[in-house]
Amino acid sequence: VTKIAVMTSGGDAPGMNAAVRAVVRACVFNNIECMGVLRGYQGLIDNELIPLDSRSVRNTISRGGTFLQTARSAAFRTPEGREQAYKNFKANGLDALIVIGGDGSFTGGMIFNKEFKVPVIGIPGTIDNDIYGTQFTLGYDTALNTVVEAIDKIRDTASSHNRLFFVEVMGRDAGFIALNAGIGAGAEEILIPEENLGIERLVESLENSKKSGKTSSIVVVAEGDKTGKGVFELKDYVEKNMPEYDVRVSVLGHMQRGGSPSCFDRVLAGRLGVKAVDLLLGGQSNLMVGINNNEITAINLEKAVKLHHDINMDLLRVADILSI
Ligand code: F6P
Repeated sequence: VTKIAVMTSGGDAPGMNAAVRAVVRACVFNNIECMGVLRGYQGLIDNELIPLDSRSVRNTISRGGTFLQTARSAAFRTPEGREQAYKNFKANGLDALIVIGGDGSFTGGMIFNKEFKVPVIGIPGTIDNDIYGTQFTLGYDTALNTVVEAIDKIRDTASSHNRLFFVEVMGRDAGFIALNAGIGAGAEEILIPEENLGIERLVESLENSKKSGKTSSIVVVAEGDKTGKGVFELKDYVEKNMPEYDVRVSVLGHMQRGGSPSCFDRVLAGRLGVKAVDLLLGGQSNLMVGINNNEITAINLEKAVKLHHDINMDLLRVADILSI
């Protein structure tokens, strides 16, 4: 391996810049070249690549988003698109690819590897934390802190007005953000995609809260909550059944994806980036790097894509106990 391409793909996440920086500097350290692909796989098809050296990634460690930009490329799903991408890949003298992203991005990398024998390594980057083979994905820790900070602020106004707030957080398929930020922010109830707690239980719990002397409440709801109701329907339901509650909704939205990465995400990005380059130099391919029990590990990309990162259900019990 003498010239590596690095790209960010799929939804952005804080820490992606720090990971690109780590890859670039590990390349420089090992005397190999590095190019950045703009806008994920689409940039490979459009031949939008930039040479990266040590100094070109200065002042990026603290920046949210991704300076390489990102996209979900439809063209790369077609054989013609991938053919074009490979032509550009070769024309640029590249011989390996590091993809920073989630499931979809890794699937793209696996197909690229299968069709053209390009060595590919994946670095997990998504705020959802829903990737098998790593306890933490890049951006998750930062997003948790962002959400907790936002809910703390909502609590200030909720308690001043004796109100009940439904706060929607990201996570179409996974409740990692909802469950952990919910516990961290002291939520009364947490609704996640993995388990249907049922709306009756919610009402019962709110009634108990009221009886125990709580004057305001925060209910954290993941986008993909299993009751399937969504925050606005939940609000209507509670207002109808518990008219004594003054209910408001707050959808945190994409602010959860932005911001300067936490120290945890920066260090993780550094470790994963260096490991990804090490693996390529050792002749390895088709792996995703991850962190498990504070060790940097690697598993098959296929496994990372196919298997499910389960949530720790014991946290639901802890959340219940803490909100008594
Ligand atoms: O996968 C990250 C994520 O932010 C999810 O939590 C959310 O459901 C989705 O992306 C939103 O996607 P988009 O930015 O395309 O609207």
